[in-house]
Amino acid sequence: MVRWGILGTGGIARTFASDLRLTDSGTVVAVGSRSDADPFADRFGIPNRHGSYESLVSDPDVDVVYVATPHPMHHDNAVLALRAGKPVLVEKPFTMNAAEARDIVAVARETGLFAMEAMWTRFLPHIATVRSWLADGLLGEIVTVTADHGQWFAEDPDFRLFAPKLGGGALLDLGIYPVSFASMVLGRPNRIMAMSDPAFTGVDAQTSMLFGYPGGAHALLTCTLRAKSPTRAAIVGTEARIEIEGDFYAPTTVSLFTRNGAPSQVRSDPKDRGLRHEADEVAERLAAGDLESPLMPLDETISIMETMDEVLAQP
Ligand SMILES: NC(=O)c1ccc[n+]([C@@H]2O[C@H](COP(=O)([O-])OP(=O)(O)OC[C@H]3O[C@@H](n4cnc5c(N)ncnc54)[C@H](OP(=O)(O)O)[C@@H]3O)[C@@H](O)[C@H]2O)c1
Repeated sequence: MVRWGILGTGGIARTFASDLRLTDSGTVVAVGSRSDADPFADRFGIPNRHGSYESLVSDPDVDVVYVATPHPMHHDNAVLALRAGKPVLVEKPFTMNAAEARDIVAVARETGLFAMEAMWTRFLPHIATVRSWLADGLLGEIVTVTADHGQWFAEDPDFRLFAPKLGGGALLDLGIYPVSFASMVLGRPNRIMAMSDPAFTGVDAQTSMLFGYPGGAHALLTCTLRAKSPTRAAIVGTEARIEIEGDFYAPTTVSLFTRNGAPSQVRSDPKDRGLRHEADEVAERLAAGDLESPLMPLDETISIMETMDEVLAQP
C-alpha cells in the first residue's frame, strides 16, 4: 500500500483524500499545510500533520507526494518534493507553462524519481474503453475531435479561477481537459488557431481553439468560465465515431456508432467518483519501479504545455 503525503488542504486535496478510501492501493499518512493541517487531518484520520511543505516532504513515512496547490505553485512544490527524494503526482495543469514543466521533468530524471501529471481523466474506465476502440482501429481514419469544458462561476476577484496570481483563467483550469483529450487521440498539432476573451480580472474567460494535425485531422475545442456547457467529447472517424456523454472528463457513458452496424455503449459505475484511478496508476508504477506512466507520459505533458503556451500567446 502506497503511503501518500498531501501537499495543500484545498478543494481537490479533500476530494483526493476522500476518493483514496475507495481503493486499497494507497492511504494518506501525512498532510502539509502553510497554516493549519489539523482540521484536514482530523477529518480524514491522517496521523502525520505538518505546518509546512518542507516538513511534509521530509517525512520518512511518506512514499509519494500529491501536489494539490494552485498551478503557479506546482513547479516549486514539485521540485521541493523531488529534491527531498519523494516521487510526485502533480495536479493539472502540471505547471503554468512549458518551461516550468521541462524543469520539473529534468529534476525528476536527474533524481531518478517518478513524476506524473494528475490528469485523472486519462485513468478512468470509459477512457480505457476509448483507447481500446482506437487501438483496435474501429474508427478508420480520424477526421475530427471535439470537446468542450464550460463551467459557470460567480465573478469574485479573489476566487482562484479569476485571480491572476493564483493562475486564473479558463484555459489552464478547464481547457486543459479538451487539450489533453485531443493530445491523447491525435498527438501534437502542427497548426494552432485560438481566440480568447478576457474576464473582468484580465485572465481568459473564454478560449476557443482549432488545431490541425499532419494527417489532415482537426480538433475543435472550447472552454469558458462564463457558462455550464454540455462538456461532451467526440472522436469522428471514417468508419465510426465515439461519443462521450457529459461530463466527458469524469466517469460517464461512452458509445461507438459504426456507419452501418448497431451502436455499442459502455456505462461507468455511477458510484465511482474517479480520482482513485490515478492513485491506483501511481501505486502500480511505483511498485514496478517505473519513473513515469505510459498513459500520461512526461514528454506528452511537456508537449501539452507547449500547445497551451501557443494558444495563450495568440491574441
Ligand atoms: N483533478 C481535478 O478534478 C481538479 C479539480 C479542482 C482543482 N484541481 C487542480 O488542483 C489545484 C488546486 O485547486 P483547488 O481547487 O483545490 O484550490 P484551493 O481550494 O484554492 O486549494 C489550494 C490549496 O493550496 C494551498 N496553497 C498554497 N499556496 C497558496 C496560495 N498562495 N493561495 C491559496 N492557496 C494556496 C492551500 O493549502 P494550505 O493553506 O493548507 O497550504 C490551499 O488550500 C489546481 O491546480 C487545480 O487546477 C484539479
